[in-house]
Amino acid sequence: MTLRPALLGVMAAALLALGSAGSASAAMPSKINGPHAKLPCSTCHLNEMKAPLKETCFGCHGSYAKVAERTAKMNPNPHMNHRGEQQCTNCHSLHAESRFECNDCHNFKINMK
Ligand code: HEC
Ligand code: HEC
Ligand code: HEC
Ligand code: HEC
Repeated sequence: MTLRPALLGVMAAALLALGSAGSASAAMPSKINGPHAKLPCSTCHLNEMKAPLKETCFGCHGSYAKVAERTAKMNPNPHMNHRGEQQCTNCHSLHAESRFECNDCHNFKINMK
């Protein structure tokens, strides 16, 4: 297995990005990606206009076990690994580009839609 040498730098940058996320979220998104396009905003945003928790996704997608089944042929399985049951939105964006966060540390040949 290969870890990127710049790992520590990447993690520091991620922390900085988290710190500034609040101010960046003022803009209203103009679209919702893929099969979710016609859903009312309130399907995912109950009280606040920010990334919904995984429990909201489970309402339609079942559980981590269920989504892991769908990607069982992928190696590694993005939904079953040493990172545990993290927030779906760590990788999936519903308004912008998705981002495969495993490659902060790894170099897997996996691209997201
Ligand atoms: C109201 C139901 C509903 C909710 C809530 C929902 N989804 Fe979906 N999602 C669907 C349907 C329907 C599809 C299309 C059929 C399928 O692939 O299961 C889909 C497909 C997807 C796909 C595959 C298609 C694509 O665009 O790549 C992803 C990824 C996805 N959803 C992620 C999420 C995430 C992450 C959340 C939580 C933020 C979420 N969904 C919440 C109904 C929902
Ligand atoms: C299927 C789930 C889903 C639906 C439906 C949805 N959103 Fe979101 N929304 C998300 C997720 C996930 C995020 C976190 C950022 C991202 O994924 O791009 C988010 C973030 C946001 C943000 C914060 C801005 C940001 O980029 O952090 C705003 C504002 C927002 N949504 C508004 C809306 C509006 C308005 C609608 C209806 C037109 C809507 N959302 C419908 C899932 C959804
Ligand atoms: C913060 C850094 C970090 C992130 C993010 C991360 N990993 Fe890892 N991963 C590691 C480390 C460290 C090891 C152990 C390396 C070793 O000693 O071989 C590891 C080991 C692995 C291994 C077993 C070794 C191998 O390459 O066969 C797999 C598979 C793996 N990670 C998959 C994932 C997946 C899938 C994700 C995203 C869900 C992910 N990792 C996210 C740091 C990370
Ligand atoms: C570590 C990153 C990561 C996390 C976290 C993650 N996914 Fe995914 N997901 C992927 C990747 C990579 C794919 C395959 C490429 C693609 O479809 O973009 C995928 C594909 C999917 C698909 C489509 C599967 C198919 O049939 O093709 C659905 C549905 C999905 N994810 C839902 C979820 C839900 C719901 C959660 C949270 C419970 C979640 N994902 C968490 C990375 C992730």
